[in-house]
Order: sequence, then structure tokens, then C-alpha cells
Amino acid sequence: MSNSRRKFIKNSALFTAGLSLMSSVLSSCVSNNKKLSILILGGTSFLGPHQIKYALDRGHTVSIFTRGKTIPNVNTEVFDKVEHLIGDRENNLKALENRSWDVVIDNSGRKVSWTKATAELLKDNCSVYVYTSSTGVYFPYTTGDLKETKNVVLKVPEDLEDEMLKMEYGYGVMKANSEIEAQKAFGKENTIVVRPTYMFGPGDKTDRFMHWPVRLAKGGEILVPGKTEDPVQYIDVRDVAEFMIRLAEQKIAGTYNAVGPSTKETMVEFVNKVKDTFKVESTIIQIDDYEFLREQGVYYIIPWIMQNENLYGSARVNNKHAIKNGLTFRDTKSSIKETHDWWYSNNLTDERRAQFEQKEGSVLVKEQDIIKAWKVRKS
Ligand SMILES: NC(=O)c1ccc[n+]([C@@H]2O[C@H](COP(=O)([O-])OP(=O)(O)OC[C@H]3O[C@@H](n4cnc5c(N)ncnc54)[C@H](OP(=O)(O)O)[C@@H]3O)[C@@H](O)[C@H]2O)c1
Repeated sequence: MSNSRRKFIKNSALFTAGLSLMSSVLSSCVSNNKKLSILILGGTSFLGPHQIKYALDRGHTVSIFTRGKTIPNVNTEVFDKVEHLIGDRENNLKALENRSWDVVIDNSGRKVSWTKATAELLKDNCSVYVYTSSTGVYFPYTTGDLKETKNVVLKVPEDLEDEMLKMEYGYGVMKANSEIEAQKAFGKENTIVVRPTYMFGPGDKTDRFMHWPVRLAKGGEILVPGKTEDPVQYIDVRDVAEFMIRLAEQKIAGTYNAVGPSTKETMVEFVNKVKDTFKVESTIIQIDDYEFLREQGVYYIIPWIMQNENLYGSARVNNKHAIKNGLTFRDTKSSIKETHDWWYSNNLTDERRAQFEQKEGSVLVKEQDIIKAWKVRKS
């Protein structure tokens, strides 16, 4: 076991001993301005550390439930202020038995059976279940203006051969059925479902949106894929985290698309908006020819994704209901700058950075060759 993991678990265990005494006297009723006891199923990867920070800053107490494997690499200072419960959603929920919290936030739900089990176990001991879902529930995105009330697919079609398509359906179907399990156990009036689009920000582990903080800082000729009208949607992870805690505080049950930016945006508008985040000279090279992009193996640079009939609405999700209920957005340039600063901080190793920045075949690595080929094609 590494030193950092040993220290992380030891500090968590010391805190646990104190907090479990305290939590037995906390009531399990949620109301405005009340300090809440919050259980996060998860907590140590990307969304969780930001929920924890915001919740602690607002005076709430937090317990997290994980296998104790993932070492957080953002907001590391908050982890000796939370109770760390160890178990496994697959087969060991003992640490959650005979305990009560005001609010449960389920971030780590990756199987319907996991959410069913925790919702069933906790329904009499917690007031609110907050399920972290995804806009993936709308797959296939064959229409636009996707609202929370839209019927979603609950079963993966049987005759699919394409593995990618199976995965895309599978994720959305898992999330949609998990939402239902939470609502069945807690009742719709006590369940909050949040459906984020692509999240980015400090702590990002997905290596998707990281392209932009890394790339924009270098300047020069920047490849921007997509047709002029191609829309994009994305959201700072902290905006999602904070929105979720505020919804829980106010117990505003319902389903919310946690999607930014506040108004419609195209890929070209996005890049123009953020291109001078860093003090470097840069020029945008827009490549709008899908056939050429396919030839070059460029199918997405999140938040842009090549449009097809199944993806038409992926960045056309309606966020009005969430905004009406308190979703706010950080300034995108500041988000990109802060994500960049986190990426080059001591929270990450050079090896980790190289793994992404030098990844063979990635657009980041191939970009200048693609631009050269594009110029030849256009000449
Ligand atoms: N990233 C995006 O753009 C995006 C977009 C839409 C929706 N979402 C959803 O947002 C959620 C955010 O996830 P997150 O990873 O950032 O959450 P998180 O709360 O920061 O971390 C999740 C934690 O769950 C723990 N975990 C994993 N498997 C477990 C198991 N079998 N039993 C107990 N704990 C387990 C892991 O810790 P251990 O390894 O120590 O167990 C991990 O650190 C996910 O539900 C995802 O589907 C993400």
C-alpha cells in the first residue's frame, strides 16, 4: 500500500470513530437552513470531492461510502473532515446498516441492482435520495429540445450488433432504470434525479474535455472540428455539485437536466469564447468536412461530437427546468483556466499528464498533421 493511501485511510478512520457517535443523534428531517447529515455513495473521484467541499462550507456533515481504493486528486484537504465508510456496492453494504442520514447522494451507481439495494436499505433511515444520472438517458438522441418529461428507453434493443451502440444504449438504460429504483423505494416526492451532460473541471478523470485546457494554453493553429451550426453542451463539475447540494437543502424533488451553457452555443462560438483564456497567440482552423474528419479519425473532441441521427439531440438538451430551480454557471474561461492549473499542479504526476498529452493516435498528438493535410486538401 502506498504512503498516500495509508495516510488517507488512517485519517479517515480516525474521523469515522468520532463522527459515528455524533451522527446517531442527528435527526433525519430536511428543511431550509438546517444543517444536514449527507451520505455520499462515492465521493472520492470527480463529482464527489466538489460536493463534499461545498457541503462542508455550508455547515453540513458528510459521510462517504467507497471501497477505499480511489485516492482523491482534487480538494484533498476535505477528506479528513468526512466520515469514510468502507464497503462494496457489489456485495457489502454493512457499513450503511442501522445508520441514518438526512440525504443520500448516489454518485457511484453503475448498476441498477446497486441503486435498488441502497435505496431499499436506506429508505426508512434517510429523507431524500439524490441520484446522479446522466443526459445519456435520452440516447438515442433523435430529436432536439430534450426535456425531463420525455419518455426514455428502458430496455436495450435485442438485435444490436454494433458494440458501441450497445454500450451507448446500455449506459442510458442503466441510468434510467436506476432512477426508477430510487423513486420506487423513496417515492417520487423524496427523490431528486440530476442528469448532467459532459462535466469538466478540476479533478476530471475522463480525459475528454481536458483537450481544451491543455491545447488552448499552447496557442498556434488550433483545430476546431465541426460544421458551423453544430451545437455543444458542457458543464463545470462544480456547478453540478453545488446545484445538487442546494436541491437537497431545499428538498426540491424532481428530475433536472444539469446542462450548460445557459443559452445555445455552437462549437465555433465555444472556441471563440475561450480561445484567449491564456496569453498566447492562436488562430482557429475550422474543419467542417465530416468526410475528411472521418478519414483522420476525428469523431469527437468533447464537447463537440460528430452529428448523426442518433446523436442529433445530444447537445440539444433543454436546461430551463434546472435553471428555474437554481442551476447556475461559472464563467467558462475561468473554469478552463482553473482546470488547466489543476492539471499542472502537484495533485497529478508527470506520468499521468504524459499518459494523456502524449497518447498515440489522439487528436492532441495528430493535430498539426491533420491541419497540414486539410490545407493540402483545400488548396
Ligand atoms: N463525467 C461526466 O461527464 C458525467 C456526465 C454525466 C453523468 N455522470 C455521472 O456522474 C457520476 C459521477 O461519478 P464520480 O466518479 O465523479 O463520483 P464520485 O462520487 O466522485 O466517485 C465515485 C466513487 O465511487 C467509488 N466506487 C466505485 N465502485 C464502487 C463500488 N463497487 N462500491 C463502492 N464504491 C465504489 C469509487 O471509489 P473506490 O474506487 O475507492 O471504491 C469512486 O471514487 C457517475 O454516476 C456518472 O455516471 C458523469
